[in-house]
Amino acid sequence: MLTVFVIIMFPLASFSCSGLHQISQNKVAVLLLAGGQGTRLGVSYPKGMYNVGLPSGKTLYQIQAERIRKVEQLAGQRYHCKCAIPWYIMTSEFTLGPTEEFFVDHGFFNLDKSNVIMFEQRMLPAVTFDGKAILEEKGKIAMAPDGNGGLYRALVDNKILDDMKQRGIQYVHVYCVDNILVKMADPVFIGFCVTKGADCGAKVVEKAYPTEPVGVVCRVDGVYQVVEYSEISPETAQLQSPNGGLVYSTGNICNHFFTVEFLQMVAQKYEPQLKHHIAIKKVPYIDEEGNLVKPIKPNGIKLEKFVFDVFQFSKNFVAFEVLREEEFSPLKNADTADKDTPTTARQSLLAQHYRWALKAGARFLDENGCRIPEKLSLSGTEDPPAVCEISPLVSYFGEVRIIIYGGIFKTVQECI
Ligand code: UD1
Repeated sequence: MLTVFVIIMFPLASFSCSGLHQISQNKVAVLLLAGGQGTRLGVSYPKGMYNVGLPSGKTLYQIQAERIRKVEQLAGQRYHCKCAIPWYIMTSEFTLGPTEEFFVDHGFFNLDKSNVIMFEQRMLPAVTFDGKAILEEKGKIAMAPDGNGGLYRALVDNKILDDMKQRGIQYVHVYCVDNILVKMADPVFIGFCVTKGADCGAKVVEKAYPTEPVGVVCRVDGVYQVVEYSEISPETAQLQSPNGGLVYSTGNICNHFFTVEFLQMVAQKYEPQLKHHIAIKKVPYIDEEGNLVKPIKPNGIKLEKFVFDVFQFSKNFVAFEVLREEEFSPLKNADTADKDTPTTARQSLLAQHYRWALKAGARFLDENGCRIPEKLSLSGTEDPPAVCEISPLVSYFGEVRIIIYGGIFKTVQECI
C-alpha cells in the first residue's frame, strides 16, 4: 500500500542558523549528479554547461558555483570564520572530459580548485528488448551510465567517502544538475535534517498535475521510497483526496540529504541490494551494412539504479516540503516542448529575482522613467513585467541588500 505522510512546516530561521553553523564548521559538502546524457534536452555537451539565456549569460554550473561561494560567505560572516563547502561532481564517461575542461576554462568559477572533486560512475551495456547487446560501432558495445544510483559504487570506486572523512564532512546535500533554482547546501534543509537527527532526507514540492514527470516520495508498506513517474500507474497518479488535491502529491525534486555515516553504511552493506530499473530508450546502433542508425522509436533497454532507492535503509527519514516557485524549475526539454525548457527555467529565475527585488523595496521604471506596474503573483511560466537578474554572489535566499539606486532599479544589469 502506498501512503503519503503529512509534512509539517516548521519555523525556518532556527534551521537556517543551525545549517549555517554546520557549514561554518566545514561539515557540509554538496554532491552533484551529473553523469546523465541529457538526451531530452538534445545537446551534445553536459547539461550544467547550458546557458538558458539569462541577461548575464551564466550557465547552470556558474550559477551553482556562485551559490556555493555565497553560502560559504554567509556562514563565515555569521560565525566569524572562513569555511569551505567541497563540491563533489559525479560524471560519467560521456560527461567527465567536457566538464573538467569547462571548469578549467572558467577558472573553477573562482572556487578553490582543491574543493572541486570530479569522479566517474560506471557504465552498463544497453540491450535490445530480447536481451542482446547493441553495437554502436563495429566491435563496440553500446554502453550507458548505470543510473544516478550508481553513486554508491562510484563513492567506493573513487575513494570519495575517504576524502569526505579526511575533510571532516558529516553531511552531504546531493542534487541533480538541471534545477535552475537549486539551493546549494541549503542551510534551512541541512539545519532541518540535522535538528531532526535524520540520516536521510528529501525535499519535495507539491505535484503540479497528475502526469508531471516527478517521482512521488511516500511510504510503501511502511518503507520510505520514491515511486518514480515512469513506474506509477496513471490511475494511482490521478487519485484525488476528499479536498480535491492529489493523494500522491509529494513530488521528488532530486535534492537529498545524507549523513556520511549513512552513505558509508549503504556503500559497505546495502548497495548490492539496490535493484536495476528498466529505461526504454532510443539507442543508436550499426546495421548489417555497418551504417549508423539513429532510431526514431525506442529500440533498447538501459539498466539504471536510482539514487533514492536507499531511502528504505534509513533509520530516520525526513521529507521537507518547499515552495515550487522558490526551489524547483528543472531544465529537461528543448524549447520545442511547453514544460521544463530553457524558457521556463529562465522565466522562473527572473520571476524569483523580480519578487526578491520588490520585497527589498525596489521599483522598476520603463525607458521613459514611468513606473512599471507591479505584478505579484506570477505563474512561473510567464515573463515578469521587468527583467531583473540578481547575482547569486549578491543574494542567496532573497536576503537582498540590493544596491538600489535612489530606491529604483533602472536597468537589467545593475545587480548582476
Ligand atoms: C529525476 C528523479 C525524479 C525527480 C526528477 C526531478 C531519479 C532517478 N529521478 O528524474 O524522481 O522527480 O529528477 O527533476 O533521480 N544522472 C547521473 N547518472 C546517470 C543518470 C542520471 O548522474 O546515470 C543524473 C543526471 O545528470 C541528473 C540527475 O541524475 O542530474 C537526474 O537524472 P534525470 O535523467 O534528469 O532524471 P529525471 O528522469 O528527470
